[in-house]
Amino acid sequence: MTPYFQTELGLLYQGDVLDILRQLSNKSVQMCVTSPPYWGLRDYGTAKWEGGDENCKHIGMESRCISGGQGKQYTNEGSNRVFSGDCICGAKRIDNQIGLEKTPEEYVAKMVEVFREVRRVLRDDGVCFINLGDSYMGSGGPGSQYDNKAIGQYKEGFHKYKNPNRKVMNGLKPKDLCGIPWRVAIALQQPYRVSSCVKSEVDKAWLAAMFDGEGCIGIRRFDSYRKEKQQVYQDGFVVYTVVTNSDIELLDRCVEITGIGKVRPKQRAGDTDGRGIVSRRDSYGWRPEGNAAIKVIRSIYSHLIAKRKQACIAFTLDLLNKNGHGSRSVPKDVQEKKTYLWGLIKACNQRRPVDLPDWIQEPKEEIEPGWYLRSDIIWHKPNPMPESVTDRPTKSHEYLFLLSKQAKYYYDAEAIREPLSESTLADGRNATGRHTQGDEHGTKYDEWESKQKPSWYRAKVFVNPMNGRNKRSVWTIATHPFPGSHFAVFPEKLIEPCILAGTSEKGCCPDCGKPWERVVEKGELIGKDRGGNYKGRNIDRLVHTNPGKPGMSYETKTTNWQPTCSCGKEPIPCVVLDIFFGAGTTGLVCEKLNRRWIGIELSEAYCKIAAKRIDNATKQRRLFE
Ligand SMILES: C[S@@+](CC[C@H](N)C(=O)[O-])C[C@H]1O[C@@H](n2cnc3c(N)ncnc32)[C@H](O)[C@@H]1O
Ligand SMILES: [Zn+2]
Ligand SMILES: [Zn+2]
Repeated sequence: MTPYFQTELGLLYQGDVLDILRQLSNKSVQMCVTSPPYWGLRDYGTAKWEGGDENCKHIGMESRCISGGQGKQYTNEGSNRVFSGDCICGAKRIDNQIGLEKTPEEYVAKMVEVFREVRRVLRDDGVCFINLGDSYMGSGGPGSQYDNKAIGQYKEGFHKYKNPNRKVMNGLKPKDLCGIPWRVAIALQQPYRVSSCVKSEVDKAWLAAMFDGEGCIGIRRFDSYRKEKQQVYQDGFVVYTVVTNSDIELLDRCVEITGIGKVRPKQRAGDTDGRGIVSRRDSYGWRPEGNAAIKVIRSIYSHLIAKRKQACIAFTLDLLNKNGHGSRSVPKDVQEKKTYLWGLIKACNQRRPVDLPDWIQEPKEEIEPGWYLRSDIIWHKPNPMPESVTDRPTKSHEYLFLLSKQAKYYYDAEAIREPLSESTLADGRNATGRHTQGDEHGTKYDEWESKQKPSWYRAKVFVNPMNGRNKRSVWTIATHPFPGSHFAVFPEKLIEPCILAGTSEKGCCPDCGKPWERVVEKGELIGKDRGGNYKGRNIDRLVHTNPGKPGMSYETKTTNWQPTCSCGKEPIPCVVLDIFFGAGTTGLVCEKLNRRWIGIELSEAYCKIAAKRIDNATKQRRLFE
């Protein structure tokens, strides 16, 4: 892939988000922060038109009117309508842009598809921040008629056209708040059914019949040799599926319908095989192994007749392989089970009668777990777009969802602590960032007395007045108009904390990508009370003199950084991905914070703006260095 623009730290690719994402490798970025086009708010003008009337200015046939919200700010041509679909003159609209889907459902489905690819590209310990705003159903509703005002400027006579798709969709009425951010967030949490590698049922049945007749499902045993110990360390087992035939067309068809593997020549006519049989014709083989073989087994299982047992045995072995034991520490009983399955499948393939043990599993469809939704951060705008509404409050917030792939992930809370408020500092009870639950007669004190130290004391490192409190979930950040465009870019201040928390300041291992982490040391004991500061005093005395106000904690200090892997390499900057790069704010902030970045943007016009913006900023920085 050739980037549209690059710097020492970053790469910008122009193209459709899914096309580009599919070319990025698995688990290759530390985090993603992005702001997708909001549903129905704006046409980014990326459409190309094919055919139709060449004098026509072309405008989509479906129109949606969005009123209220930040509509005015975003919509095209000064109207609050967005247009999609083909033109009335017959021109076909060719456009990959996201946001012009007809219904919220279609938009949400697209988001799920896109962020599923992001999930693949993200490291397992990575996080993803998604900025989403909401919109109101327009007074005309989706698919309503054109109004003359919006249309008149394009072509005489357009107003006579009545949209045949006019209907109210999915229970959303004009004036309804669409709730798009939460629809997206909830959809992203859901597990995802991975569709079979073979699409049609006919093909599945055909492939199953191939396996029943000409194929084999087996387990290959291999030994791994450990150089340092100079011995064969342990038995490895891997599933394979193979179809052999002298008819190469049949095997080409297997490859075609599964999209897996290659056909390879197996034997030449006249060669003798392992069993001493001389083959009369050239023969070919198609032999997926490991994950690819499991995909094949999953797709054909329900149609298999003769080789169902083999499919179950192979599938169970694969489960044992995947249940988290690295090659070092496979427990003995698991290893015994694998060896047993290896013998069992061999017996099946030699047509000996076998009974399957009760722990054998049937191949099931593949399920990808959904995202973990970890926070719904409210981006509060102190300077919202003015709205002329009188029957609801003016909208002054958007969402920033924090999502992760796993329950545990990299998150540097230390990097984004916020200062304590004046009132908090004045009140000793608040110094730990939480109120104490209890007083002289309350549970805390009793717990203390019974030597069961309360949790605020047990925690080795917790929020204290010197470090500030843990960042909260409402972020107040003003929007800035982007010069020279009506286009809304996100403020740098909005994504700075995301990048600071989501990636290690020190960087990551160049080999395995694991982030370096802070070595945080517990400093002196400090306390804050109405009376002032205590430092380094004996905590027992303090607690006894102030039982209900345990505003004491230890100072925390980052004394060093350490790798979280054992590769032993110097760290390099972490990678931040923004799949809807727009005017390149993410790139800009990454350059400033010394993070690598990858941007994807469909519109060439915005790629140009982004490249210029980043180029200028990096040049300026170099001048000052
Ligand atoms: C809300 S803007 C992002 C603004 C950006 N955060 C900034 O600060 O400049 C959304 C961007 O997504 C782009 N976009 C829309 N559909 C796309 C697609 N299918 N693939 C890639 N980018 C797309 C639009 O051109 C637009 O620039
Ligand atoms: Zn047209
Ligand atoms: Zn490493």
